[in-house]
Amino acid sequence: MNNMKKIIIVLAMAFIIVAIFKVCVSRDTYSKTGYKGKLPKVGAAIYKYDDEFMSYICNSMENDAYGRIALNMNDSQNDQNIQLQQVDEMILKGSRALVINLVQPKAAKAVINKARVANLPVIFFNKEPDASVLNSYDKAWFVGTDSKESGILQGKMIVDLWNENKSKWDKNQDGKLSYVLLKGEPGHPDAEARSKYALDEIKKAGISVEELAQATAMWDDAKAKEKMDGWISKFNDRIEFVISNNDVMALGALDSLEKAGYLSEKKFIPVVGIDAIPNAIKKIKEGTMVGTILNDASSQGRAIIDLVTNAANGKNILNSTSWKITNNKYVRIPYVTIIKDNIDVAEQAYK
Ligand code: BGC
Repeated sequence: MNNMKKIIIVLAMAFIIVAIFKVCVSRDTYSKTGYKGKLPKVGAAIYKYDDEFMSYICNSMENDAYGRIALNMNDSQNDQNIQLQQVDEMILKGSRALVINLVQPKAAKAVINKARVANLPVIFFNKEPDASVLNSYDKAWFVGTDSKESGILQGKMIVDLWNENKSKWDKNQDGKLSYVLLKGEPGHPDAEARSKYALDEIKKAGISVEELAQATAMWDDAKAKEKMDGWISKFNDRIEFVISNNDVMALGALDSLEKAGYLSEKKFIPVVGIDAIPNAIKKIKEGTMVGTILNDASSQGRAIIDLVTNAANGKNILNSTSWKITNNKYVRIPYVTIIKDNIDVAEQAYK
């Protein structure tokens, strides 16, 4: 090979190397900045995909994110360590903002520590962190509900239904409402507040209560069915009300009651839940479940995406939205009481 040829080959190779290098650098730049027409990256973690209510929030988020942000959704599999690793990966991959449904509410601090180092905004949702932790970082917010409100509304609904039907539902006619209570995950702000405030409301209305049993079924239908099977064989006809912290567990209890013949007119035991998921709406329409409280997944998903899209673009989180914020930190979607008469409200929300 003569010298001229050698020079041409070396120059060509150098040209190729520079070209490859340029492509890599520019790709990296695009993904990090979401610039030149590319959508900004947002990393999201869901405490576990295997939770029916969360799946409705996820659907709403995905629909709303379309064409606005590149949303990377992760299943934290109910493991806080996995979730923290996912947060590290989101940051490494160039997320411009984070959306976190904590596994453990107490882990908000660890997530904020990571977000702070990367100077990233973080929107928590569904499981509310402690106010002091949220206030410790000016780029952290919460989108969700007011847990206490769901308990109060559920309690008021029970009071109204009981007063209308006690001639049938107070089986032993002792004037007391004898209930069993299915609790969600202990330590979850919704589970704690719902259990407390629903009962407070019933007592406030002057109704005497008797707690036959209370246990956690971890928001899960199979676990709720198992508990209910046990309570039916232990208490039989003494159970006069089933109060559940969510609809999925209420449906598990209904399954158990149905198999034991407790949904017939004569033996009927009323069941109430919270969320207004489509299967619960169906049961309320049929008359086998007496009421629920709408936990508006669709609005929560939309609020999360509106806020995080603004945050990822470096704008004020409320820019061009009509969501109301309190204490500069909280966007709370109101709950709505749902009984047979206004079932269309719940149907609209889950459309
Ligand atoms: C819902 C539950 C759900 C839980 C998950 C609550 O707000 O009512 O159905 O399992 O959130 O964190």
